[in-house]
Amino acid sequence: MDKKVTVVGAGNVGATAAQRLAEKELCDVVLVDIIEGVPQGKALDLTEAAPIEKHDAHLTGTNSYDATEGSDIVIITAGIPRKPGMSRDDLISTNAGIVKNVVKEVSKRSPNSILIIVSNPLDVMCHVAFEASGFPKNRVLGMAGVLDSARFRAFISMELNVSVENTHAFVLGGHGDTMVPLPRYSTVAGIPITELMSQDRIEALVKRTANGGAEIVSLLKTGSAYYAPASAAVEMAESIIKDKKKILPCATYLEGEYGIRDLFIGVPVKLGSTGIEEIIEIKLTNDEQAALNKSAAAVKELVENLKNLNY
Ligand code: APR
Repeated sequence: MDKKVTVVGAGNVGATAAQRLAEKELCDVVLVDIIEGVPQGKALDLTEAAPIEKHDAHLTGTNSYDATEGSDIVIITAGIPRKPGMSRDDLISTNAGIVKNVVKEVSKRSPNSILIIVSNPLDVMCHVAFEASGFPKNRVLGMAGVLDSARFRAFISMELNVSVENTHAFVLGGHGDTMVPLPRYSTVAGIPITELMSQDRIEALVKRTANGGAEIVSLLKTGSAYYAPASAAVEMAESIIKDKKKILPCATYLEGEYGIRDLFIGVPVKLGSTGIEEIIEIKLTNDEQAALNKSAAAVKELVENLKNLNY
C-alpha cells in the first residue's frame, strides 16, 4: 500500500484497529507491543485472513520500533485499560510513562507523522504526546469525540428505531464524565432530536452516552471497550489518508478557541492529509458553554496533576 500506519499496543483496541485498517485496504500496518510474540502472532493471523477478506495490505508485528520508520500516521493505544470501579483518570501515572516513551520512539523515526492518541485518560495523554513529540498542534490529536458521538448515535437509533446512517451527533469536551453531548446539533435525517424526543428521554440518552465506557467496563469486567474505540480511530485515520476533510470531534490543542487556552479538549475539527486543518467554532448557548468550561476545568486539573508526577 501507498500509506503506512503504525499501531502501538497490540491489545484489544490496537489489534482491532489494525484489522479494520487492513480490511479497508487503507494502508500497510505495523503493529508494535512490548510483549514478545503478541504483535507478531496477531499480524500473522491477520495476514492469513487476508486471502478470505480480499485485501493486499501488509501487516508486520514487532517488539522494536525500526519497522515503524516513515509512518504516515501513528495510532497509540499502548497502556493499561480500566477495570470495574476505575475511572479513566486512575490510569494517569502508568499510562503517562508508557505514552511518553512510545512517542519518543515513534516521533524520531517518523518525524512527519500524525499522532492519533487513544490511551486514557485521553485528553491528558494528548498533552504528554504533544510535549514528548515536539510536533505542531495539527499533527497531535486524540480519539474521543468520534467514539462518544457514535455511542450517542447508536442510542438515538435504538430509541427511535431508525437507521444509524440517518443519525448525526455532536459530543464536545473531555473524554470523561463531564463530556458535553449537544442535542441541538444531534439529528435524525437532518431533524434535531429535540423535535423527536421528550426532554426526559434526551437526558437519559445523554447520561448513557457520558457513562458509555463505564457501561461496557462493567459488562466485560476484565477490560474496557475496543470495537467502537478502534472504529473511531480508524475513521479519523481514513479521513487523513484519503484527505477527506471530514468534520469530526477530536481532542485538539486549543489556543483561545471556545474561550479555552493551552488545553487539549474535544471540539469539531476538519481532518485532512495534514492532520487538523481547521478548528470549527460552533455557536454555543450559555448553558452549553458553561458545560464545556466545566469539562475543560476537569481536564486542566488533571494536566496540572500530571506536572507533579514523575513519569
Ligand atoms: N509499549 C508498547 N506497548 C505497550 C506498552 C509499551 N510501553 N505498555 C503496554 N503496552 C501494550 C500492552 O502489552 C497491551 O498489549 O498495550 C496493550 C494494551 O492493550 P489492552 O491491555 O488490551 O488494552 P486496550 O483495551 O487495547 O486499551 C488500550 O486504550 O481505550 C484505551 O483506556 C484504554 O488506555 C487504554 C488503551
